[in-house]
Amino acid sequence: MIDTTRPHPARVYDWFLGGKDNYPVDEQLGRQIAAIDGAAPKVARANRAFMRRATRTLAEESGVRQFLDIGTGIPTEPNLHQIAQSVAPDARVVYVDNDPIVLAHAGALLRGTPTGVTEYVQADARDPESILRQAASVLDFDRPVALSLIALLHFVADEDGAHGLVRTLVDALAPGSFLTLSMMTADFEPENVHRGIAAYAAGGVTLVARSHAEVGAFFTGLDLLEPGIVAVPDWRPEDTPAADGPVTEGPISLYGGVARKPAG
Ligand SMILES: C[S@@+](CC[C@H](N)C(=O)[O-])C[C@H]1O[C@@H](n2cnc3c(N)ncnc32)[C@H](O)[C@@H]1O
Repeated sequence: MIDTTRPHPARVYDWFLGGKDNYPVDEQLGRQIAAIDGAAPKVARANRAFMRRATRTLAEESGVRQFLDIGTGIPTEPNLHQIAQSVAPDARVVYVDNDPIVLAHAGALLRGTPTGVTEYVQADARDPESILRQAASVLDFDRPVALSLIALLHFVADEDGAHGLVRTLVDALAPGSFLTLSMMTADFEPENVHRGIAAYAAGGVTLVARSHAEVGAFFTGLDLLEPGIVAVPDWRPEDTPAADGPVTEGPISLYGGVARKPAG
């Protein structure tokens, strides 16, 4: 099931993070991207750190106990369920990805707390109805859910239904739910980002960059939490970042934001 002849986003990302679950084709593309933009591995680390801060904020400050994470990626500790369940051991987490290699590692994702629930669903983000149907066996959609699409939507073009899938998912959430997004932008370093997109395209991977306004469109009808949509290291930076945490030198070409679904 695993095609090792073509690079795959999850495995290239794993290579950037220093993981071992990638193949020579993934490393080759990772090296190509890093040669174009030396910050690429830092971008991956800054994105993971954003995921950790956003998840902790929602579990600690907003009291969310249900999490739906689509585009989970190959497990990299700490994983989202470990953050959520360290705050609330009874947190219920559903992971979703469409890559068979993530499925192969699902066992590592499923080691959650005994009082919580951690489930993995193999599905495509472009089929949100199927995700909602499967997730409903674990999550109560009448109560708030933290939906995360972190470093996912730049793999789904507008014409492939990026906006429709977000709308379908958000419409299914109860008021008081949250949407966390991060995605690539060419706003800061257009030349490098467009060269990176071309390198991914040559490897058969579609990647899209979106402007601040285009990212904002995904949050239509939702209330953005402070500080709004910003480069991921600037989203509620910690006083003492973890060793692999946000890097502030040089631009990080990923926007991130978290928003709450209002009542009515
Ligand atoms: C860059 S990784 C991000 C992993 C994790 N969310 C993070 O931010 O650390 C993107 C993930 O999205 C997954 N993905 C890409 N397109 C997808 C789709 N259409 N449906 C489901 N997952 C998808 C890839 O397999 C990969 O695991």
